Amino acid sequence: MYLCPQPKILELKKGMFHFPVGEMPKMEKKKTPELSEKESYRINIDENGVLIEGADDKGLYYGELTLKQIMLNYRGCLPFLYIYDEPEFSYRGFMIDSCRHFFTVDEIKKMIDAAAFFKFNKFHFHLSEDQGFRVEMESYPLLTSVGSVRPSSNFGRGENDNTPYGGYYTKEELKDIVKYCEERHIEVIPEFDFPGHTTAVISAYPELSCTGEKLELKTTAGVFKDILCIGNPETLKLIYSVIDEFCEIFPSKYFHIGGDEAPKTRWLNCPKCKAKLEEEGLHTMDELQGWLVNEVAAYLKKKGRKAICWNESLNGGNLDKDNITVALWMDKTNKAIEWANGGNPVIMEKFTPYYVDYPYGMHSLKDVYIFNPRKVKGLSSLGAASVKGVESPIWTEYVRDFKTMSYMCFPRWLAVAETGWNGANPRGYQKFLKSAEFYSDILKGMGHNPAPKSEWNSAPHERLNKTVGFFRNTLTTETIKNFFKKD
Ligand code: ACM
Ligand code: ZN
Repeated sequence: MYLCPQPKILELKKGMFHFPVGEMPKMEKKKTPELSEKESYRINIDENGVLIEGADDKGLYYGELTLKQIMLNYRGCLPFLYIYDEPEFSYRGFMIDSCRHFFTVDEIKKMIDAAAFFKFNKFHFHLSEDQGFRVEMESYPLLTSVGSVRPSSNFGRGENDNTPYGGYYTKEELKDIVKYCEERHIEVIPEFDFPGHTTAVISAYPELSCTGEKLELKTTAGVFKDILCIGNPETLKLIYSVIDEFCEIFPSKYFHIGGDEAPKTRWLNCPKCKAKLEEEGLHTMDELQGWLVNEVAAYLKKKGRKAICWNESLNGGNLDKDNITVALWMDKTNKAIEWANGGNPVIMEKFTPYYVDYPYGMHSLKDVYIFNPRKVKGLSSLGAASVKGVESPIWTEYVRDFKTMSYMCFPRWLAVAETGWNGANPRGYQKFLKSAEFYSDILKGMGHNPAPKSEWNSAPHERLNKTVGFFRNTLTTETIKNFFKKD
């Protein structure tokens, strides 16, 4: 029988329960105080039919999902069995970047359908970037009218099109996505990424950058020097307003405030940022970023929310221990490991192997499957216990359409789902592989486009070819010019 994720305990018994093909089996569902672990459930199938018991609504929901998967394996009958199941991690996340390329509500829902089926419970929605701001806003309307349209797109070969590219979600559409997720016990975590990756904000409100220069939205991939000016109190006003409006749309416990890839070039030369540094008694611009994160995390706390930030926010060494969870994606300075080892919460979103926008040649299905988020180099036992879960992002510089997104995510997100639910490697890679094959067919039936098996784990020389091919595609005249451009 193929299940994904694999339940913690599965005992097959002698006998089969029969029912008419095309109908549901006789079933009883109930919550039971005997199950103490959150999200846990058990299933008994015997001559009386199916009994699903859950610790809570989530447990019952996951029990029903597992039953659906069992039913996909049989026709008109079910094996007698006992299952007890509970997740290892409370945070089982997937992230979609709808900024570099924009995905419709229906496409987003199709991604949610698939992720929900494998028991993901956090959808991190990346909604603001250098190349587009994707939310309807009232307090700062230019974020939407100016910030959601770029003049052209130059991400890779074949896309140098000189055609404006835009898109945003209305509040109603986002609330609809939130409701859709709630029905699937998924929390939608919005991300407003700052102080870096904010060219769309600056294009709308140039007075909030350090130079005040009018900028166009970016049309290429990259890390850009023009970031929000934190010495300007008006910037904080915008940040809080955006957070307030996002909070009205998204009732999530977590709120992602970005913080990745924010070069300090402009801050170092900005009288306002330098004055702010002095006023707060800080010494480095990385500390100023840490100060910003602390201020915003305290603001979120007052609103009953928890902040998540990318690991670069730790570079100043001054993050408050209160109300901040760090997403570890590329921990060059080991600061996120130290943070976890100090008993502070971390989400494992490690570039290698969880960035599924990179080709299977780089991050193979097996690499994703065998990755153990609690065994990352440097983690102490307290550090391992501080890992709240996993998340895999699909960044979309090179993902232009739904078909490609689905191809890159599946079946690799099955491996992430397995780890999110079970910790690591509950049954061995070969057995998981069989489930991945089985559910690839199911995904196709759901309108998805999982990568073919030949792609999942290539021989080393093919992996190299595929990786080189991927990077060749990303090189355009624009990206090369950008790379050598003097400031
Ligand atoms: C990131 O990939 N810049 C978080
Ligand atoms: Zn400044």
